Amino acid sequence: MNRMMHTLVVCVATLLSATVLMGRSGGAPVPSAGVPTDMGGRDCAACHRPAAANSDSSGRLSLLLDAMTYRPGVKQTIRVRLEHPEARRWGFQLTARPTSDTTRMAGSFTPTASVAVSCDPTGTAPCGGSREFATHNVESTRNGTTGSVTWDVEWTPPANEVGEITLFVAGNAADGTGSNANDRIYTTTVKLAAEGACNLARRPTLRNLANAGSFSTTLAPNAFASVFGSDFEVAGRSRAAGTGDFVNGAFPMQLACVAVEIGGRRAPISYVQSDQINFQVPTITQTGPLPVFIILNPGRPNELRSDQGTVTIAQYSPGWFTFSNRSIAARTADGRVIADPAVIPGGVAARRGDVITLYGTGFGFTEPVFQAGEIPSGEARLRDPITISVGGTMLAAGDILYAGLAPGLISGVYQFNIRIPMSATPGNVAIVATMGGVSTQTAGGLVPVQ
Ligand code: HEC
Repeated sequence: MNRMMHTLVVCVATLLSATVLMGRSGGAPVPSAGVPTDMGGRDCAACHRPAAANSDSSGRLSLLLDAMTYRPGVKQTIRVRLEHPEARRWGFQLTARPTSDTTRMAGSFTPTASVAVSCDPTGTAPCGGSREFATHNVESTRNGTTGSVTWDVEWTPPANEVGEITLFVAGNAADGTGSNANDRIYTTTVKLAAEGACNLARRPTLRNLANAGSFSTTLAPNAFASVFGSDFEVAGRSRAAGTGDFVNGAFPMQLACVAVEIGGRRAPISYVQSDQINFQVPTITQTGPLPVFIILNPGRPNELRSDQGTVTIAQYSPGWFTFSNRSIAARTADGRVIADPAVIPGGVAARRGDVITLYGTGFGFTEPVFQAGEIPSGEARLRDPITISVGGTMLAAGDILYAGLAPGLISGVYQFNIRIPMSATPGNVAIVATMGGVSTQTAGGLVPVQ
């Protein structure tokens, strides 16, 4: 009983604020389109009681589209249709999200005479990159209309292909009493593929591969690397892998219809644009020269392969990730970026005696081994010995507190927690890591020390 009272009180408070919101935006309060990642998937039934969405089978909510596709950057109309034999007033809310990451907006809506555009958390279009919702306005609730209504929503998909897009829509076939009770709520989703997906038409040209940190052209197993060339993707388009692209929790072996094959094995890909692909070298034990191919529209009748390239794989290809090739990507124990402020505004210097974290790639196998593309959730230390010098002083083993994979990042990213010696000379200090006689880069392999 007490619990019931509490629920009612909360509900009234919500309704009061909802009325204010509705008055301002001329539509349903956001977010209530039923996106699982928005406020626990709230839809109109959060306020419009008593029944949950889709529990009244005499009505229907649908999205009418010319095709189940979108063309990047090209505006299209999405027709929202809501039917119910007894309803007399109508409302809806629609949003578009990349299936790979439903917390982000996909494209933008254009307000029209019958469609308002609200932003999450507040405001009306333009939303400046925040999540958008197309919704009814006061007139387009068409008070008194019976049977069914439609709204035509103008939507411009993102300029970049973002893979599949999910449209989430919720509708209210209301009774027209102006109260939130006795209304019928419906939700549905529609998935749109990128038009021309896997229709890449130009044969890719592979130029060279490089360690993504040091740009060394020798790579190592599991190293994070880039391949450069042309016609990997339609000019001007790019695509970064999101969690929805993951396969069994790991980075995908093809992204935006592009695959990289090294020594007959597919490599996990994190980013694609027309002249560059970022990928991780497969977890292989072979060393020496291996054949490389870039494959477009992989596995389809229109598959296109580049000419064969060659890459040299060694056991180690250590390289630091850097800021603009001028300063090692590093941070303090409390998370501040260590860099020359001329390179990264707000960057700080490391202090002597402090433990700092550096990032790099190409340091070989770890214990435990993570497969390329996997994301370690905990520690995985280097399997083989490493030495690190700071300003020419070799660090004692005890001053290398951790050398292994960076938990939570793709298994090609390695992390080092080291103590800066008290004897270091202030200034831009060279830090060199060496494995099996191979060292990290000299250009940009610096950390500012004060
Ligand atoms: C946070 C609470 C809340 C949510 C969520 C909500 N509404 Fe409402 N809605 C209200 C309130 C309160 C009213 C009545 C006051 C008013 O008309 O302004 C109302 C009224 C309406 C009406 C007029 C109903 C009638 O019977 O006259 C329509 C249509 C409507 N809402 C559509 C929607 C749709 C569609 C959604 C989901 C996309 C939605 N609402 C989500 C609170 C909410």
